Amino acid sequence: MVQGIAFGGDYTPEQWPREVQLADVDLMREAGVNLVSLGIFAWALMEPREGAYEFAWLDEIIDRLHAAGIAVDLATPSAATPAWFAKAYPQSLPVTREGVRIGYGGRQTACPSSPEYRAATVALARELGKRYGRHPAVQLWHVHNEYGAPLGECYCETSVAAFREWLRRTYGDIESLNDAWGTLFWGQRYADWSEIDAPRLGLTVVNPAQRLDFARFTNDEHLACFIVQRDVLHELSPGVPVTTNFMSINCKSMDLWKWAKEVDVVSNDNYLVPEEADNHIRLAMSADMSRSLGGGRPWLLMEHSTGAVNWHPRNLAKRPGELRRNSLAHVARGSDSVLYFQWRASRYGAEKFHSAMIPHAGTDSQIWRDVVGLGGELRGLADVAGTRVESEVAILWDWEAYWALELDWRPSVDVTFLERIDEFYAALWRSHVTVDFAHPAADLSRYKLVVAPSLYLAGDAAAKNLHRYVQAGGHLLVSFFSGIVDEHDAIHNGPHPGALRDTLGLTVEEFHPLPAGGSLPLSAGGHGRIWSERVRLTGATGHATFADGPDAGHPAITRNSLGAGLAWYVATAPDDLRGILATVLDTAGVLRPADLPDALEVVRRGDRVFLLNHGETAVSFQGVTVAAGGVVIL
Ligand code: GAL
Repeated sequence: MVQGIAFGGDYTPEQWPREVQLADVDLMREAGVNLVSLGIFAWALMEPREGAYEFAWLDEIIDRLHAAGIAVDLATPSAATPAWFAKAYPQSLPVTREGVRIGYGGRQTACPSSPEYRAATVALARELGKRYGRHPAVQLWHVHNEYGAPLGECYCETSVAAFREWLRRTYGDIESLNDAWGTLFWGQRYADWSEIDAPRLGLTVVNPAQRLDFARFTNDEHLACFIVQRDVLHELSPGVPVTTNFMSINCKSMDLWKWAKEVDVVSNDNYLVPEEADNHIRLAMSADMSRSLGGGRPWLLMEHSTGAVNWHPRNLAKRPGELRRNSLAHVARGSDSVLYFQWRASRYGAEKFHSAMIPHAGTDSQIWRDVVGLGGELRGLADVAGTRVESEVAILWDWEAYWALELDWRPSVDVTFLERIDEFYAALWRSHVTVDFAHPAADLSRYKLVVAPSLYLAGDAAAKNLHRYVQAGGHLLVSFFSGIVDEHDAIHNGPHPGALRDTLGLTVEEFHPLPAGGSLPLSAGGHGRIWSERVRLTGATGHATFADGPDAGHPAITRNSLGAGLAWYVATAPDDLRGILATVLDTAGVLRPADLPDALEVVRRGDRVFLLNHGETAVSFQGVTVAAGGVVIL
């Protein structure tokens, strides 16, 4: 890959006349661009008719970039099937859960289980690999674009047949499937594989275990589409890493722990919700997840934006200084690149109002000046590339638990996955604690504290892992509605929280979710929101109680000594989560800078310390002043 921090973005020269293409390369050099992503949606140009490949245009562009010293991240264009493909294989067009067959003319319009689609993408990857696999400009392969969104599940007949095969491989015999899915309920028992359908829209709730397996199946089908292309590229382009751009915390449909094992380097796309207060916290979360997926190794920020995106109701521009601050925030948290969607703003098509490194206004613009300034600054940060960020605290994140928690008919619609994680992440961010994400069954031994926000689904492996972690001296903080069901969404035997009863030293007799907007005072001060429940101690000790409501006088926060460690439990959503976390962090021995304003982000990466001021006033830290909105790297 490129030396130092990679800088550049998605480049679509095919949309521009030759004189613009030539000028672009000069401008890239001016800005210090050293890596661009090419060809992401260019299938119809690479293969205008089935089996007829045209690469002369691409040869010219890649050679020109190479001559200018700019490396190429070459994409396989499987996210944009051409019109001829849809006409030749109309059965490949995906079908939604509602039964609507979608049309072409956008992108991601092929069913991941379609054999014709897979064969065509592999054939094209093979042509690309043969032609460019050893081209010195090609330093990275970019398979597809953002697997899992907008296309996740497909309900076409091909998918249903593939789902049956997946089930047969997973369960072996139909009785095991019946047991796992609990089909005695509502008389859903299956006598034969051929009776099984996708969990289509019903008039009432469809079997939750069936829905979970369909989500797993969907993940595996998309992943298989990636793997077949990756294998061809490995064969024809030895030594060149292959990636696909993730959307880390923003993609519900793909189990990225599984994906991360298959890519050579993790890459991620991150876009802010412009109207969200403190959206830099979500940015940090996305970056921390990217690093965690790669096991702590540096990762690549494949896409973010210089300014406004075009797909929100109101697409606010970034404020002065925000372009630089956002980009450096990703570098601080482990990215070895600063790449944007996109190099030059399009004149036509669906994304013409999306920002770019060169906006419609051209180079006499603030965005361009900021881009050039940042390119220069990144050259001075070359030593940061390859270095690591260490964390003492992990938050558990399991995509299967995400899917399960948000199925229908739970005790309260107010318990949603991302929001529960957000609250803990934000409180830790504001406490200046750098966080990793981890799968509940992963090795947690390097963390002083592990936090499990509403980990509703927890199988035996996760439960045993967490128990061992605490026994060996770890500190665990679990919040309500955790450890309730197994991987088939079946309640663990005995009282809640079945998977975590012994670890937490308590049982829960009854859930008492609060009405919308409700809250209850806690004996320790502050209030609990969303949830209350009747906790019965079986070994743990009470730390605070509910001061009102159906569980008045009963525990709201508990702690259980187990082996050499400690397991905390919080039976509600406290408004003063930071205060509670301060106690938990202190007990676990997690050190953090004291007396800093919330808005100052402090992250250590290798030998450098990044100070990012998201606030409206200047801040001093160890004799250094960070201007409002500014970044200082020590
Ligand atoms: C990403 C996508 C890009 C572009 C961008 C716009 O999700 O990968 O191709 O559409 O959004 O923000």
